[in-house]
Formats: sequence, structure tokens, C-alpha cells
Amino acid sequence: MSTQLTEKKTACVVGGTGYVASLLIKLLLEKGYSVNTTVRDPDNQKKISHLISLQELGELKIFGADLTDEGSFDVPIAGSDIVFHVATPVNFVSEDPENDMIKPAIQGVVNVLKACAKSKTVKRVVLTSSAAAVTINGQNGTGLVMDEKNWTDVEFLSSAKPPTWGYPASKTLAEKHAWKFAEENNIDLITIIPSLMAGPSLTPDIPSSTGLAICLITGNEFLTNALKGMQMLSGSISIAHVEDVCRAHIFLAEKESASGRYICCAENTSVPELAKFLHQRYPQYKVPTDFGDFPSKAKLVISSEKLISEGFSFKFGIEEIYDQTLEYFKSKGVLKLKNSGFHFLKFLSGNKIFLNIHLLQHGYCISDLKVVKQFSLK
Ligand SMILES: NC(=O)c1ccc[n+]([C@@H]2O[C@H](COP(=O)([O-])OP(=O)(O)OC[C@H]3O[C@@H](n4cnc5c(N)ncnc54)[C@H](OP(=O)(O)O)[C@@H]3O)[C@@H](O)[C@H]2O)c1
Ligand SMILES: *[C@@H]1O[C@H](CO)[C@@H](O)[C@H](O)[C@H]1NC(C)=O
Ligand SMILES: *[C@@H]1O[C@H](CO)[C@@H](O)[C@H](O)[C@H]1NC(C)=O
Ligand SMILES: *[C@@H]1O[C@H](CO)[C@@H](O)[C@H](O)[C@H]1NC(C)=O
Ligand SMILES: *[C@@H]1O[C@H](CO)[C@@H](O)[C@H](O)[C@H]1NC(C)=O
Repeated sequence: MSTQLTEKKTACVVGGTGYVASLLIKLLLEKGYSVNTTVRDPDNQKKISHLISLQELGELKIFGADLTDEGSFDVPIAGSDIVFHVATPVNFVSEDPENDMIKPAIQGVVNVLKACAKSKTVKRVVLTSSAAAVTINGQNGTGLVMDEKNWTDVEFLSSAKPPTWGYPASKTLAEKHAWKFAEENNIDLITIIPSLMAGPSLTPDIPSSTGLAICLITGNEFLTNALKGMQMLSGSISIAHVEDVCRAHIFLAEKESASGRYICCAENTSVPELAKFLHQRYPQYKVPTDFGDFPSKAKLVISSEKLISEGFSFKFGIEEIYDQTLEYFKSKGVLKLKNSGFHFLKFLSGNKIFLNIHLLQHGYCISDLKVVKQFSLK
């Protein structure tokens, strides 16, 4: 047998269509892994088109499987060294979080881990959890620091039932079940705990987390309220670049000494602080900066120190996260050049307006107010 074949690293990515999973697959293929991935709907060409494109990069096989279908993971996982369990049911507007998110998330963890135990080849499982499984509780205060020892208080969530409570409850309970199953069945489990993610996506549709991350720029009122709700419920606005989160998945899968939970977050902030940063960096957009009596400081910070102390380093800070997310939205044609640019244009006259509108239509941003001033002075 050729040594190359026997030494090729193999991985299975559960839930390949998603924002995180599809980029993770790309990075794995680029590192020479041979990859199996599972999707719910392998015959839906539109939903898997980006995975089909990734097959050019290396060996990628697509299997059908559902978190709630026991046994559906056995075939794709058999033969893998590493399993990344990324999929999770997400439905923020669910009327029935118990059946829409909590039960299928727990079933999924158990079904995937059962397949890993059966396989005899799987050496490590990396589960994608969430900061929503760490930071939510009924405590008040400021300046709290939270790390991997902290767990979201599910009793608080299910009694207070704040909006969207089903998602953090499902993430917390799924992760707890994973730890229990792994201990009982002697599985080497790592959980990674990302904050809100942004950055470009390979998916056909724009991921909702990127829309949430840049709502202060797009001016979407519904999402701005959701972002404020996120700060109030989870205690802060913490952000990471999706590529760093995917890099951290692979880093932890390969790092022999790694164990337990790992928070992965590049920046701790709050809605008003984020708005101030965005207002300064992108003056062409009308980013609001007056939030009335909304808390300007976050209640807590989460720390990635454990991940960093293993030797991981973040590639992207807040500037790159937002620069790239803005470029991504422009490339998708959904970020209309707006507000301040057009307000300035109203004061211009004749050809110059057309020139500017022409520039805008071709994707240029009148970001440099000096240019606008030059026109208007004439
Ligand atoms: N995005 C963030 O900001 C963020 C932050 C912290 C943690 N996370 C975690 O990161 C992971 C990936 O998130 P994402 O943003 O990439 O989400 P996403 O784009 O919405 O992807 C979710 C994936 O889960 C799959 N899925 C849902 N229900 C399923 C079921 N019953 N059976 C099989 N697959 C199912 C979906 O498959 P279909 O294509 O079949 O629908 C999809 O591939 C999740 O575990 C999430 O909790 C995300
Ligand atoms: C993918 O699944 C097939 C079928 O079980 C298995 O033979 C193969 O080793 C798996 N490959 C990877 C990369 O896990
Ligand atoms: C935190 O503040 C809220 C709202 O003021 C209050 O209802 C709750 O009892 C407080 N929690 C604790 C643990 O003090
Ligand atoms: C985080 O967990 C530690 C250890 O269990 C605990 O002492 C601390 O109070 C928790 N922090 C918060 C803010 O809940
Ligand atoms: C978040 O805050 C914690 C505690 O101050 C700090 O250790 C950590 O470096 C901060 N994280 C980032 C990425 O800013």
C-alpha cells in the first residue's frame, strides 16, 4: 500500500452546508485532508452548490444525514480520524423551541457520538458549541470575566424565557450531553466556543450572523434591536472572524495536548462601543452613536486565553473583520451606498451629481468626504 494513501488525514464534517462548516471544509481540503461531509438534503443542488465547487480542491464526499435520524452518521463517519460536529438546528423565531431546537440538538450530539464510538477509527471529536452556552445567567454587574469554567444557567433561561431563549438553551444542553456521553464512552472530545462570527461566506445565501454583525451599518432596525438584545442577554457583543474560528477547529483537532472547552473570540465589546468604532472607520455610512440610556459598557468579557496559551494566534482583528464583511456585502450587491453620501449629493448640481451616481452604481463609495467637498465647493 502506498504510504501516501495510508497517511492521508481523514475528517468528517457534520452539517457541511453551513457558514462555518463550508469554510472549515475548504481549509481542510487545502491542508490535504480527505473529507466526508453530511448534509440533510444531498439532492438539493442549490443548497449544496458551494460544496460541489469545493470538490475541485480535493477529496470531498457528500452524504445525506439528519441529526434526528439515528444511524444516519454511521457510514460517513466510519473511517474518519477526526469528526467535526458543526450542525445545529437554528430557529430564532420558533414558537416551540423544545421540539425545534432543544430536542434535535441533543439527539444530534448523541447520534453523532454513537457513530464515532462504533467507528473504532475516530481519534478525536470537535464539537462547535457557542458563547451562548457560557455567559447567560441572572447575575447583574459589570466587569465580570467569564471563561471555560462558566456555564449558561438553563433554569434561568427556561423560567425567564427571554426572546430567543431556546437557542442558548439548546446549545448548553447539547454541549452538556456531549460531555456526559464522551466520558461514559471514552471519547476524546473538544468543544469550541465561538462568539458571534462575521467575515465572507461561501454559502449561496448570506448567513444571518453576518447580517446581525453589520446591522449598525446597513441600518436594519430589527437586527439592531436584536443586537441590543444580544448584549443584554449574553452580557457583551463578542466577535470573531469566521476563518479564525475554522482555523481554531483544525488547530484543536491536531493539537494533541488540547482538552476540554475552548472559547474563541477576537474582540469583547458593546453595541455603543462598536457603533463608535464603525462610525469612525466608515464615515460614509450613517452609523448611529446615540443609544440613550442603553448600557454603554458590556456586563462581562469572555476570554480566549486558554486557546491562545495552547499556541493559537488570531489572524483577524476587529478592523479586518469589518473591512471584509463590508466588502462581502458589497460583492453580494446588498449593501446600498447610502445615507451620508446621498445627503451630500443633494447639495451638488448638474453633471457632478451624475458623475457621483455613476460612481455609486459602479460600486464606488464616496467614502472620502474631501472628494465630496471638492465637488460642492465649485
Ligand atoms: N454563526 C455564528 O455567529 C455562531 C456563533 C457561535 C456559535 N455558532 C455555532 O457554529 C455552528 C455553525 O453555525 P453556522 O453559523 O455555520 O450555522 P448555519 O450556517 O445556520 O448552519 C447550520 C447547519 O446545521 C445544519 N442543520 C440544522 N438542523 C439540522 C438537522 N436536523 N440535521 C442535520 N443538519 C442540520 C444545517 O443544514 P441544512 O443545510 O440542511 O439546513 C446547516 O448546515 C453551530 O453549531 C452554531 O451554534 C455559530
Ligand atoms: C468516508 O466514508 C466512507 C464510507 O464509510 C469511508 O470508507 C471513508 O474512509 C470515509 N472517508 C473519510 C475521509 O472519512
Ligand atoms: C438583576 O436585575 C434585574 C432587573 O433589575 C432583577 O429583576 C434581578 O432580580 C437581578 N438579579 C439579581 C441576581 O440580582
Ligand atoms: C464563573 O465560574 C466561576 C467558577 O465556577 C465562578 O466562581 C464565577 O462566579 C462564575 N462567573 C460568573 C460571572 O458567573
Ligand atoms: C476580553 O477580555 C478578557 C479579560 O479582560 C481579556 O483577557 C481578553 O484578551 C479579551 N479578549 C479580547 C480578544 O479582547
